[in-house]
Amino acid sequence: MASAAKRKTKTGAKVALVTGANSGIGKAVARALAADGYAVVVNYRSREKSAKATVEAICKDGGFAEAFQADVSRPADTDRLFAHIAETYGRLDVLINNVGDYLRKQIARLTPEDVRRMTESNYYSVVECSLRAAKLMRKQKSGRIVNIGYVYAERLQANPAVVAYFCAKQAVMSFSLSLAKDLAKYKVTVNIVSPGININSVEKPRRPSDQIPFGRFGKHADIVNAVFFFLKPESEYVTGTHMKVSGGHGL
Ligand SMILES: NC(=O)c1ccc[n+]([C@@H]2O[C@H](COP(=O)([O-])OP(=O)(O)OC[C@H]3O[C@@H](n4cnc5c(N)ncnc54)[C@H](OP(=O)(O)O)[C@@H]3O)[C@@H](O)[C@H]2O)c1
Repeated sequence: MASAAKRKTKTGAKVALVTGANSGIGKAVARALAADGYAVVVNYRSREKSAKATVEAICKDGGFAEAFQADVSRPADTDRLFAHIAETYGRLDVLINNVGDYLRKQIARLTPEDVRRMTESNYYSVVECSLRAAKLMRKQKSGRIVNIGYVYAERLQANPAVVAYFCAKQAVMSFSLSLAKDLAKYKVTVNIVSPGININSVEKPRRPSDQIPFGRFGKHADIVNAVFFFLKPESEYVTGTHMKVSGGHGL
């Protein structure tokens, strides 16, 4: 697999890492990137079977991808992932920070451990991968980072039932803006794409129109479309922005 990856990059293919790409939004983005010619690293945490299925689907469509197990909220795992990328491909053109577990738990029952877990999953995963990617991208003087956020996170507001998730996603927003400012001189952009309630949401209202002005749940294709906007050569001047892809939910 490593030699196939090296051969692929020799053809001039760009390299993309999608975290948590074995299901949901991450999987859809990984498939779209591969269909667009990227060599894609399909990162996953535990479900190897679904990661392999993602890679197989990509290969069947004529693309190139490999699965790589790493819990990107952990430094040692993320080191291993980026050592592999540096050794195998020698570059990273696109990082999609997609990982982020969800927790609904009233603040009265919340434990510090819950908050730590949500913070590591949603925020540290972005920090762990972005700082390592930034090292490669600074050297390259190019690169695109897209962080998958949450539509409510840009506004300071009370949200006691999902506070741990909410705060972690707010940290992602703040971190993204600072990183965008720092990396702009290297022609590296950092942007945020925020879903509202997607079809794979763990918390869907019975009727979409109850909560979504547009009247339907978000599709993975809606998110993919937004991500691709930030990857276009013509979008090189767009950095530090937040794109809400929610059909009006959360406005
Ligand atoms: N779906 C929505 O409606 C919605 C709404 C707003 C925001 N979002 C955001 O969109 C992103 C994707 O959501 P989703 O619902 O599509 O996710 P999902 O279906 O739950 O998939 C997440 C994938 O990420 C992997 N993963 C989780 N933690 C990981 C870690 N530490 N390291 C590596 N892989 C890890 C999991 O792999 P394993 O199974 O192998 O553990 C899982 O397959 C998240 O950031 C989420 O907060 C989603």
